[in-house]
Amino acid sequence: MLSKKLLEALNDQMNFEYLSAHYYLATAAYCQEEDLDGFANFFWEQAKEERFHAEKFYNFINEKGERAKLQGIPEPKNEFNSLKEVFEIVLEHEQKVTERIYKIIDLAREESEYSTISFLDWFVDEQVEEESVMSGLLKKVERLGESDQGIFMLDNELAQRSFTLPEE
Ligand SMILES: [Fe+2]
Repeated sequence: MLSKKLLEALNDQMNFEYLSAHYYLATAAYCQEEDLDGFANFFWEQAKEERFHAEKFYNFINEKGERAKLQGIPEPKNEFNSLKEVFEIVLEHEQKVTERIYKIIDLAREESEYSTISFLDWFVDEQVEEESVMSGLLKKVERLGESDQGIFMLDNELAQRSFTLPEE
């Protein structure tokens, strides 16, 4: 059993994770158009990971005997002026996700809902990684500035990234 308030918060977060996937698909499409195939691949794989996050919430809600409810997904930002702006936007988005996860944990703590706290622990660690990856890439992109060769090398590196479902 989950309280109405906690169920709503978890459900909203499931939908927010789908919004994250949308964010990354939009950035992937931008990079594709800019002929940055490696960056596009990186964001495409990142979108997969976000859908996996959403599915984790979906499964948890259902396991708790409740029902996940899908909402409409707001339009993400589709227009960007630079790669730097792309990373600023996604880093800001990930920071927002972290804040939201912390708030749900606060709520679960108030209600002594230990299974939710334990479930969200995984996301706390995951967000440290997400923020660190995005801020690391933002710094690299800033440092490279207009260096086409540097961006080309980073693009090659990011072409290697693929997301595989972790073993349960
Ligand atoms: Fe996520």
